[in-house]
Amino acid sequence: MILPPISVKDKNGSEYVFKTPSSSEAMVILDSMAVIAASSPYILSTPESFKAKSIDSQIKWLEDAEKSDVAIIIAAYDSSGRIVGFCNGRSYADIKRQHRAGLGVSLHPSVRGLGLGKKLMEVLLTQMRQFSGIQIIELDVMTQNLAAVKMYEKLGFKRAGVFPKAFIFEDGSVSDNLTMYLDVFSLPGT
Ligand SMILES: CC(C)(COP(=O)(O)OP(=O)(O)OC[C@H]1O[C@@H](n2cnc3c(N)ncnc32)[C@H](O)[C@@H]1OP(=O)(O)O)[C@@H](O)C(=O)NCCC(=O)NCCS
Repeated sequence: MILPPISVKDKNGSEYVFKTPSSSEAMVILDSMAVIAASSPYILSTPESFKAKSIDSQIKWLEDAEKSDVAIIIAAYDSSGRIVGFCNGRSYADIKRQHRAGLGVSLHPSVRGLGLGKKLMEVLLTQMRQFSGIQIIELDVMTQNLAAVKMYEKLGFKRAGVFPKAFIFEDGSVSDNLTMYLDVFSLPGT
């Protein structure tokens, strides 16, 4: 699925464009994802995991999502064209879970707390509601990630349950995982 460019403003009035990135941007996307991943302990992927990815696999990931009717990738660009955020959604491939789709969202630290994350999520959810056969949109979030949990709750996500000690950090500390979900038919406009 492809999102054509849409213009949005943050709380300060600065302008951004949300759109599906082109596969020709694969390298810059990997670099931006590595920078964003380095900025937060709450992002599952590490900078190293992005650096280890091949350009070919990144191009394939972008092209597969473009062609699919149950996947979407969106990047946020600031007014200078720099990528400052990402979100993506994809349905499960197996038949018995094809009514469910997962998502991820992350922003560069310089643009957090300005309303962009919520706007990006709203655009993502609008797109995901169009996924073939979709009934449930879900996500996993570390329980300490209060900003994200609050944002998801504002968007209508409910708490499904907690998996204790789901993540372990370099210093040996652990975090629980909270699974949240949204019943697509309870979204406004459905
Ligand atoms: C989580 C994230 C995407 C939120 O995006 P954002 O642009 O910073 O959030 P917004 O400014 O749109 O805020 C949306 C809501 O989230 C909550 N929120 C945002 N930042 C918060 C903070 N620091 N503390 C508490 N609540 C916060 C608020 O309820 C806010 O609504 P309000 O502005 O009406 O009060 C962003 O902070 C981020 O990229 N974090 C690092 C990566 C990450 O954690 N991704 C999610 C992994 S599951």
